[in-house]
Amino acid sequence: MSWIKEGELNLIERISANILKTGPMPKHVAFIMDGNRRFARKKNLERQEGHMQGFNKLAETLRWCKHLNIPEVTVYAFSIENFKRTKEEVDGLMELAKQKFERLLEEREALEKHGVCVRVLGDLNMLPLDLQQIIAKAVVTTRNHNKCFLNVCFAYTSRYEITNAVREMAWGVEQGLIKASDVSEALLSECLYSNNSPNPDLLIRTSGEVRLSDFLLWQTSHSCLVFQSVLWPEYSFWNLCEAIIQYQLNHKSIQKARELHREEQALEQLEADRACIAELTQHQGNGKPADAQKRQEALQRYIASREARVQDFLQALKHKRNSFFSDLCSETA
Ligand code: FPP
Ligand code: MG
Repeated sequence: MSWIKEGELNLIERISANILKTGPMPKHVAFIMDGNRRFARKKNLERQEGHMQGFNKLAETLRWCKHLNIPEVTVYAFSIENFKRTKEEVDGLMELAKQKFERLLEEREALEKHGVCVRVLGDLNMLPLDLQQIIAKAVVTTRNHNKCFLNVCFAYTSRYEITNAVREMAWGVEQGLIKASDVSEALLSECLYSNNSPNPDLLIRTSGEVRLSDFLLWQTSHSCLVFQSVLWPEYSFWNLCEAIIQYQLNHKSIQKARELHREEQALEQLEADRACIAELTQHQGNGKPADAQKRQEALQRYIASREARVQDFLQALKHKRNSFFSDLCSETA
């Protein structure tokens, strides 16, 4: 089964999609694709067959998202916790991923035609080297596509991602690229694996489990969370429509909460900048209080220098990450 499932919606699906699209639509949907093994048990299939059908359902879901004009999808394909499963199952999932990313490379022309950018979020070092290399090739091949985005979380947990982001900031301070006082909520967001994406509007978990299982904890504080009892391989277009309706019903309050949070964040940053300036002028001043205009000018200069520092640091981080993928690709060239 291919990643790009061609084909139109049927008439009734098309009519429903058009009705849905008259309301606010999520631009980014995240899925916890849960229930593959229970599906296999229910149908008397091998466990691996359950995961394979799970992948097929992903390809189908991406097609629905395309018809619903949802440009970004993030999926939880393999949690770091999944390494604790039996060797047979872990090997099976690694093999499945290897096959599918190989297939993705064979489909590069279709990916280019549809403008699909595939990103993999997680610590690739935990994966077998051949899989790391194939993933890196897929990521590098599609990285300039910009019509729709598929983020595959693989060897991922949210706590690991946040810890890694904190380590990246510590590295920036050690390298003298940023100051400890530059650390902020906004900067941490920029250091996450997900830094290139807006936060998900809608997160869907299938199989009836009502937990986030360490998935996108930072990114979903203002997302609509929908838990559905259907097992992932049985997910249908109608299940997706139902989740979108949930999002639409909650859209206003989600937007309000996001706006409030943006305002609070801007205010916090201003307070932090003012505190830095107060400390600097205390050390440099001659004891006389500076007038309001001078204080304002010093604040503007400080903000400009902080922003320049942060941009240089983020460039260095981007370069480090891009080199990691490029090096993996050149090892196999
Ligand atoms: C959760 O169901 C599913 C997984 C751990 C694997 C998900 C992977 C896929 C759908 C294939 C995607 C592959 C690529 C390359 C993107 P479960 O195993 O926890 O099932 P259970 O909840 O019934 O035990
Ligand atoms: Mg499960």
